[in-house]
Amino acid sequence: MCGIVGYVGEKNAQEVILAGLHRLEYRGYDSAGLATVRENDLTCTRCVGKLGSLEGALRQCPHTGHVGIGHTRWATHGTPNETNAHPHLDGPGDIAVVHNGIIENFQELRRKLEDGGVSFRSETDTEVLPHLIHAHYEGDLFEAVKKALREVRGAYALGVVCRHEPDLLVAARKGSPLIVGLGDGEAFIASDVPAIMQFTREVIYLEEGDLCTIKRDGCAIQDLEGNERSHITATVDWDETTAEKEDYPHYMLKEIHQQPDVIRHQLLTYVDKQTGQVRLPDLGLDEVALCDISRIVIVACGTAWHAGMVGKYLIEGFARVPVEVELASEFRYGNRVLGPNDLVVPVTQSGETADTLEAIRIARQEGASVMGVVNVVGSSIAREADGVIYTEAGPEIGVASTKAYTSQISALVLFAIQLARTRRTISGEAARGLLKHLWDIPGKLTHYLESCETVRRVAEKPRYLKARNAMFIGRGYNYPSSMEGALKLKEISYIHVEGYAAGEMKHGPIALVTSELPVVCIAVQGQVYEKVVSNIQEIRARDGITLAIATEGDDLIREHSDDVLYVPDCYEPFSPILVAAPLQLLAYYIADGLGRDVDQPRNLAKSVTVE
Ligand code: M6R
Repeated sequence: MCGIVGYVGEKNAQEVILAGLHRLEYRGYDSAGLATVRENDLTCTRCVGKLGSLEGALRQCPHTGHVGIGHTRWATHGTPNETNAHPHLDGPGDIAVVHNGIIENFQELRRKLEDGGVSFRSETDTEVLPHLIHAHYEGDLFEAVKKALREVRGAYALGVVCRHEPDLLVAARKGSPLIVGLGDGEAFIASDVPAIMQFTREVIYLEEGDLCTIKRDGCAIQDLEGNERSHITATVDWDETTAEKEDYPHYMLKEIHQQPDVIRHQLLTYVDKQTGQVRLPDLGLDEVALCDISRIVIVACGTAWHAGMVGKYLIEGFARVPVEVELASEFRYGNRVLGPNDLVVPVTQSGETADTLEAIRIARQEGASVMGVVNVVGSSIAREADGVIYTEAGPEIGVASTKAYTSQISALVLFAIQLARTRRTISGEAARGLLKHLWDIPGKLTHYLESCETVRRVAEKPRYLKARNAMFIGRGYNYPSSMEGALKLKEISYIHVEGYAAGEMKHGPIALVTSELPVVCIAVQGQVYEKVVSNIQEIRARDGITLAIATEGDDLIREHSDDVLYVPDCYEPFSPILVAAPLQLLAYYIADGLGRDVDQPRNLAKSVTVE
């Protein structure tokens, strides 16, 4: 949550920072701000609302410095207003700080500083930092930041500038992601790679506890004790359009359409062309370790948790290993029973979700192994896990997760096949058969997405567009799909929606059915098809509006449903990947039809790096 960009170089810092913040706005959009330094002068501009407001203010009073820091905020402490926006300044306005994370002991520090005569302007935890750095400042910003951070408890990614040292940017990382970008005579900091991709591909992923000085000619890194730290520079090979909307009106729609390519790319990455076998090079578990697993615990949040639920069906079905799926936020405070033969699998797009990160730290302390299913390379969870399967989905910018979700499911399919082969619960021939079904998915998705206009026509019907409540039901492999369809619709349309296991309807939820309630019923061909059709009939008998997601060729279902969205026929265990597409499009077109901000829905941020 919150995006940070910093720059030192020849260019106009304001332009570089704004370009970077645009690429990070998905991380928070309550307020934005920028501070630059030029010839011993520090200028700061902050605005409430999206980046557009800040840009408007900067058009009136542009900054001309070549060193600066910027921030786009998701409010944790203090309401989203201009006073609480970053950067925050020390008393005289000499030092500016942008911060992502939470300073846990800020109240104690604030009291101490106030007792010493410091006046605070904002309600934020962050504001203690510039005042604390000021208190330690004796002509050396780096040393002052180091001393200040020794007093701080909590999580931070920081960028700091000072008007007395106009060529310097100081950055620090603990518990929140931060990268350094190295260019020719210029350097950058950012919360995420897309922010600086247009300027450089050479990046250093800062480690926990890193503190660095950043100048035009590079960066030097130490820990808080003053020990030198060295880091490898990585080259990012994404192409320029990866983080652009291209011709799509929203990132969400672009990312929905990228799904066939993402899955194809994942298969090309992890299925050996010669042998046709799954190869997961960073799994971190050898054959013995895979055979010794007695239980798998998947931990995740939100959409990733739904992918984990599908993973449970897949792993138990193919590899016959018991799987539990836990919300990471519950797992971390639950009465866990973990041991050395347990494998904990965090599933996460960002690799930075605070609850998921804490869950794996607990799991490791309790002796379990950790293998992550992660999208963002070099993220905290990818680095702290014993092994990782990268989902290879590329940057996901839309707040509503789409391609990350389907790529998490396909990665879990690959893991389930690998585990099953190693444990000999399926034959080589059966594994090849499963992979063949998986290879069919990208083509089927492409075919489906070509007719997405059909979904738009259904979504725009008043019975859906005007609904105040809605329900999604599914069963078996597609019970998680119903939860995911409901989450997608509620988070971007603000309609109240719930997802239920279809078999649970008569245990309570059916009481909600009225002639105004749309129920999206996932009824693709498979072992529970007839059961779901019975559920649809029960809803219709109570005047509910039914929208079925069914398999192409199923003409009978029209008799039971007000509307039908057909998906191509496919192997039932992999149907959640295909079913995701109409659910995502339905949410997209309803939200767009209602005029919602699809890519940046209210109150949300892309990566939830605070509890
Ligand atoms: O980065 P993660 O996958 O760990 O994020 C987990 C959830 O915050 C995320 O899936 C969230 O639920 C999405 N906004 C849903 O679309």
